[in-house]
Amino acid sequence: MSITILAIESSCDDTSVAVIRDGVLLSNVIASQTVHAEYGGVVPELASRSHQQNIIPVTAKALKDASVERADITAIAYTRGPGLMGSLLVGASFAKGLSIALHKPMVEVNHLRGHVLANFIKLSPDSPTPSFPFLCLLVSGGHTQIIRVVSPSVMEVIGNTIDDAAGEAFDKCAKVMGLPYPGGPEVDRRAQIGNPDAFTFAKPRISGLDFSFSGLKTSFLYTLRDKYAGNSDFTKDNIDDLCASIQKTICTILLEKLVLAAKQTGIKEIVIGGGVAANSGLRAAISAEGQKRKWTVHLPERRFTTDNAAMIGVAGYFKYLAGQTAGHGQIPMPRYKIQE
Ligand code: KG4
Ligand code: ZN
Repeated sequence: MSITILAIESSCDDTSVAVIRDGVLLSNVIASQTVHAEYGGVVPELASRSHQQNIIPVTAKALKDASVERADITAIAYTRGPGLMGSLLVGASFAKGLSIALHKPMVEVNHLRGHVLANFIKLSPDSPTPSFPFLCLLVSGGHTQIIRVVSPSVMEVIGNTIDDAAGEAFDKCAKVMGLPYPGGPEVDRRAQIGNPDAFTFAKPRISGLDFSFSGLKTSFLYTLRDKYAGNSDFTKDNIDDLCASIQKTICTILLEKLVLAAKQTGIKEIVIGGGVAANSGLRAAISAEGQKRKWTVHLPERRFTTDNAAMIGVAGYFKYLAGQTAGHGQIPMPRYKIQE
């Protein structure tokens, strides 16, 4: 009997539903919320309301795209956290309602584990997947971690940011330059035509495998302020070079720690996940480093790096196989840690 997972992701500002059968992706629908752009960041109350509006049509489309009937669903996977409480509540309540109506079990999924396991999303039964143990550089809007992944259920955080996340560094620097939210993709686009060596910014000196990005943000801000004093068009005139230079600096910081983690653990199987894993500079830098160091590098497709339900479906599929279904009494966990 095949196992069909309906997966629901609503942790932040994307409403997404996917269908996975026997580990293979059948559909993955994402409704990205645009209401936040004019506020320069995600407005939690508006996010919950948009999830409420989107969740039924997105689910209907995911089932239709997959040619799957509700009766064919084996289990419902949903994101329990981390994320915004209101947004999580919409997905969790909807999953619970479906579970009760269809008499199908629920599987709760940690969003961060979803990002790590996005590397196991298969488009066909023989799609290649990473082998355990591997190291995952998890870089998103809220997290920057290096994780030693022993199995789908055993993940150990060996490096973490002590302040801002890498995605936050992209977004904050973009904001200072007047670029629209979220800034990461826009910085990436402009970096491709800019000079990455035009400007240098102070890199943090943190020992071990931890990261820090708040100093970089300040260094970026001071550079703009100083240059602006002599030329009020400075940012406008140099925006592509600024994007390329800040992107290079963020990628170098990430890569240095990843290299150190690979050395310390002796693990050469390397994967990346999270929204910043879509970044062209980071993907190119990790591929090049991997070739040099004889790593096996797995880069998830870009559409599976930012928030999506396909990754929740894969993580839910692993848990379902392990018999880890959830009761209806569970509540969302906005601060759900990856190790929990
Ligand atoms: O994983 P994600 O979609 O949501 C969270 O769980 O946080 O990550 C969103 C983050 C944002 O900070 C966004 O600017 C960043 O990922 N991002 C990028 C790119 N695409 C998304 N950062 C740099 N380059 C990109 N191409
Ligand atoms: Zn995410």
